[in-house]
Amino acid sequence: MDRFLIEGGKKLHGTVHVSGSKNAALPILVATLLTDEPCVIHRVPNLRDVRTTLKILEYLGKKITYQNNTVTIEPNGKLKNDLPYELVKQMRASFWVAGPLLARFKQAEIPLPGGCAIGVRPVDIHLKGFEKLGATCETKAGNVLIKADKLNAAKIVLRFPSVGATQNLLMCACLIAGETILENVAKEPEIDDVIAFLNDMGADIRVGDKGQLIITGVKTLHGAEHTVVADRIETGSYALAAAATRGDVTVSGCVPEHNAILWEDLQEAGFTLDIGPDSVHVHAYDGEIKPLRVRTAPYPGFATDLQAPWMTLMTLCNGTAEVDEDIFENRFMHAPELVRMGAQISTEKSLARVTGVKELSAAHVQASDLRGGFALVMAGLCAKGQTEVERVYHIDRGYEKLEEKLTALGANIRRYNPDKDEF
Ligand code: EPZ
Repeated sequence: MDRFLIEGGKKLHGTVHVSGSKNAALPILVATLLTDEPCVIHRVPNLRDVRTTLKILEYLGKKITYQNNTVTIEPNGKLKNDLPYELVKQMRASFWVAGPLLARFKQAEIPLPGGCAIGVRPVDIHLKGFEKLGATCETKAGNVLIKADKLNAAKIVLRFPSVGATQNLLMCACLIAGETILENVAKEPEIDDVIAFLNDMGADIRVGDKGQLIITGVKTLHGAEHTVVADRIETGSYALAAAATRGDVTVSGCVPEHNAILWEDLQEAGFTLDIGPDSVHVHAYDGEIKPLRVRTAPYPGFATDLQAPWMTLMTLCNGTAEVDEDIFENRFMHAPELVRMGAQISTEKSLARVTGVKELSAAHVQASDLRGGFALVMAGLCAKGQTEVERVYHIDRGYEKLEEKLTALGANIRRYNPDKDEF
């Protein structure tokens, strides 16, 4: 399996252009199941999770072409409405095919997505929503059979603003006659991008005065062309890597307002940022990094996906910082690996206390999940000496051309596979 070798201690400098958002691209690709007409999606990042999603669409019966970040999805005969465990186990978001398949075929048989390193990750909110729309959900032998004689518009209040449940129910409701209302929905920018694409396909989705989603069902949806929004998590990740290495970096091609809280926290920690219409410039800063207390929350709160990279920055703060992970129950796996690199971190349930150290030391570490993996790469960029990060496949899920982008910023990072490459 691939590893990263990083010679740290270099300040990042220059400009990095962000890719299209993984977490918008995945639901948008899945939404093409709602039509039998061709769709063209631009700025689709070439990531492991995207390739998995394209495999799922091919399995279900779509014809896919993918080059230069543009995906063309065309009909290729009758769609299937079941998924094999092999595909679902690779990526939780594969469960989001349930909504479109239920809407079109009144039946979907999907393996329940298992948990993953960051938590159990149930789908109860999805299933309760489908039941409210008139479906029955029967789980057996690790699969869930969702079916309905007839689907009816309904008012659904999500017990928690789950991103995935919002996407799933939104896509399903597009083809249900009548007016479905979704309340307490996720408000992440990726949802807005999915709504824009669905409305371009002919759906009728409005956002109400209290932020609720009002979906008036239509009979069919047609094909559409769409360009995926910039990846706000990649944007924040590179800004944090610049800050942690005391570098001077401009992150371009982004939507700065999607990371408003992060910019505020970075400025409070001592950094100077120039925020433009589609770029953020992190200025070099050699002063003390102020310890803050951040708490992850649904958008527009502090993004849980930036918690791990933020923690790496706080390992170098002047004092003791606190990180509350309030979204996932087990999202501190990077902490013990950072401790192996000299960080001082203690965790108790959802709280991590990070006492800053003067510098991190290079070590051999292993990634357990996507964002924790990036946090370890960041630590390797800061630590003098050679850091080796194992299980890079986690990181390949969500960061397109990571080593190319970091190398262009002056980092010394290379990918190698001990089973294949000469050292
Ligand atoms: C999406 O996951 C993202 N993935 C995650 O990004 C992100 O961390 C998460 O939203 C929160 O922002 C994609 O968009 C592909 P949730 P999702 O449903 O939809 C609980 C990354 O690094 N919950 O909002 O799975 C759940 O256990 C990934 O790019 C239920 O209890 O997240 C979790 O604690 C990681 N029941 C919380 O809600 C449900 O039915 C948030 O989950 C659904 C969720």
